[in-house]
Amino acid sequence: MKITVSVIKADVGSIGGHIKPSQKLMDSVKDFVQEKGLKKGLIIDAYVSSTGDDIAILMTHKRGKLNSDIHKLAWDAFVAGTAVAKKQGLYGAGQDLLKDAFSGNVKGMGPAVAEIELEERPNESFLFFAADKTDPGAYNLPLYLSFSDPMHNAGLLLSPGMSKGFKYIIMDVEYVDADRIIELNTPEEIYDIAALLRDNQRFVIESIHSRSTGEQASAVSTTRLHNIAGKYTGKDDPVCLVRVQGSFPATGEVLSPYGIGHFVAGFMRGSHTGPLMPVKANSTISFFDGPPVVSAQAFSMRDGILTEPADAFDQPFWNYVRSAVSQKAIDIRRQGFSGCAMLPYSELEYGGIVEKLKVLDKKFVVKK
Ligand code: F6R
Ligand code: MG
Ligand code: MG
Repeated sequence: MKITVSVIKADVGSIGGHIKPSQKLMDSVKDFVQEKGLKKGLIIDAYVSSTGDDIAILMTHKRGKLNSDIHKLAWDAFVAGTAVAKKQGLYGAGQDLLKDAFSGNVKGMGPAVAEIELEERPNESFLFFAADKTDPGAYNLPLYLSFSDPMHNAGLLLSPGMSKGFKYIIMDVEYVDADRIIELNTPEEIYDIAALLRDNQRFVIESIHSRSTGEQASAVSTTRLHNIAGKYTGKDDPVCLVRVQGSFPATGEVLSPYGIGHFVAGFMRGSHTGPLMPVKANSTISFFDGPPVVSAQAFSMRDGILTEPADAFDQPFWNYVRSAVSQKAIDIRRQGFSGCAMLPYSELEYGGIVEKLKVLDKKFVVKK
């Protein structure tokens, strides 16, 4: 049976700054999806969760990708949530709803979206990742390693299902007029893929496909909020779906790169470098409005009906990783604004510093 898995995520307000959405806000989004989506038969199943200040609506249905009814359901759920957020005085109420009226699908409107249409396997299993205080390039390194590097993916050596490699679709997210993409195949073009993916702010993995079966393995939200709004609106806080097992990497191979706690863009005011911490679902944001976090919830599905999630980072091993990542976060914070601890001008999410430099520029003198 053909099923589409869609996840649509937005920050429409949170408690005490950017810590987490309120319970009432979460309930309002859940109730809306229940009433207007499930009860009306528009979607087969749904699961609503939060990561930092973001709410993600995971849905299964039969309407394919970029379906306007599905996207409108999520948009309207966030609009309903915004009303609750405003009533409660939450911070950043409606923050990610950047357009006034819904038009067609949520792409380019603020919310992040990742979707896979799949021929459901009898034991369909997938991981849903949600990251906060960072941008879509945060998934570049983990997805490169888990699909292409035998140091993380033993299946590339051991499992015939993956021996043909994968096709990566990579997007140039600085190009704003339309989707500018390139298709590259592993293993032959692995150095070309690495050459692009090193630039996390410009080139972002949009999707990955199996070369053995042609099936889509992964989808990442590629929205860059500052491209839409032209000004600070928070970092993009990307979501990602990864199908696992069989001709795809095993769950543990997909999780393996998150043990690195690699440095990503985001953190305080979306303008710093910080290590990506794997956290439990529904975790909050704290130290220096961070650190950048990522949650991973595993699901199985039959006929589009989801199991409850298994929280993939809720296991003692990840406590050790979280301690190591905390140490990395403290280390880079010790150098404050200096050098690589803060992002280059093009990535700073606040314009204030540009104004400051304009004023200072006039005060410079050239000594004869
Ligand atoms: C980063 C983020 C926070 C805010 C910071 C200031 O993604 O959401 O770090 O940038 O708390 O918030 P404002 O400018 O809204 O007062
Ligand atoms: Mg926020
Ligand atoms: Mg956020």
